[in-house]
This record gives sequence, structure tokens and C-alpha cells, in this order.
Amino acid sequence: MKSQTIALASDHGGLEMKALLKQHLEGAGLTVIDLGTNDGQSVDYPDFADAMASALKGGKAERGILMCGTGIGISIAANRHKHVRAALVHDSYGARMCRQHNDANVLVLGGRTMGPEVAKEVVDIFLNTEFEGGRHARRVAKLADSGER
Ligand code: RB5
Repeated sequence: MKSQTIALASDHGGLEMKALLKQHLEGAGLTVIDLGTNDGQSVDYPDFADAMASALKGGKAERGILMCGTGIGISIAANRHKHVRAALVHDSYGARMCRQHNDANVLVLGGRTMGPEVAKEVVDIFLNTEFEGGRHARRVAKLADSGER
């Protein structure tokens, strides 16, 4: 895997998957920043999406991985930040396409909806796939300008 610093964050619904992926990434020689949560207490997923947005904005990590029970709530929260392109992914095709076409900087997984082996595979694809640019760059640039004015 390419040398990168990866930030991880989850609520309680993604805690187990976060531990698994931390071990997987560190085992591959990557630097991991763990933004929590770190116990099983019930917490609010927007807080961890916000922590991820801050880590990326501050340049502490190049990419991030977010998890909650389904991945839905935390992806909605993350995408409220304009510099975040968070992709909720369920399979290897989505992992590849969110990089090639959408230049996603955050991968989102459901801790209660995806098995561990699929999660590791999806993460590896996400981290090793480049953005294709070209016509996709025009579309991604439009995302930065979208929203209510
Ligand atoms: C927490 O129970 C659960 O609602 C949360 O992890 C997530 O799935 C929300 O979208």
C-alpha cells in the first residue's frame, strides 16, 4: 500500500470494525490516526464526522475512513463539510469507482452491515486507486460550488 496517513473514526456501531481496520492498516505499514470513539458507550455520529473533517482540513491525514452502524448517518454528516467527499461503499466496485470517478477522500462503511474480509478488501482498493480526472474533474469541481446560495 502507498505510504499515507489515514484517519479513522466511528461511533459505537463502528467501533469493532475500526479496531479491525486499524490493525489491518498498521500491519500494512500505514500511519493511522484514531479519532475515536474508543469505548462502547453510545455516542453521536456527527461528532466523529466533524472530527474527521477537521483532521483532513488541518492536513493531519490524507484520507479517512468513517464507520457507524449502517454508515448512513456518519456519511450524511461528513458530506455537510465542503472539503469532504465521503462515499458510503458496500463492495469492491464501489470502492474503486468512488476513487476513479468521485475522488472520494473519505470511505464510509457500515460496521453492522459489512463483514470483516470485505471491509479489508474495500479499504485496500480505496487506498490504492487513483482519481481518473478528465471529465470527472469537472464534475468534482462542481461539487465544491454546489449547495444553496
Ligand atoms: C447507532 O445506533 C446507529 O444509529 C448509528 O451507528 C448509525 O447506524 C446511524 O446512521
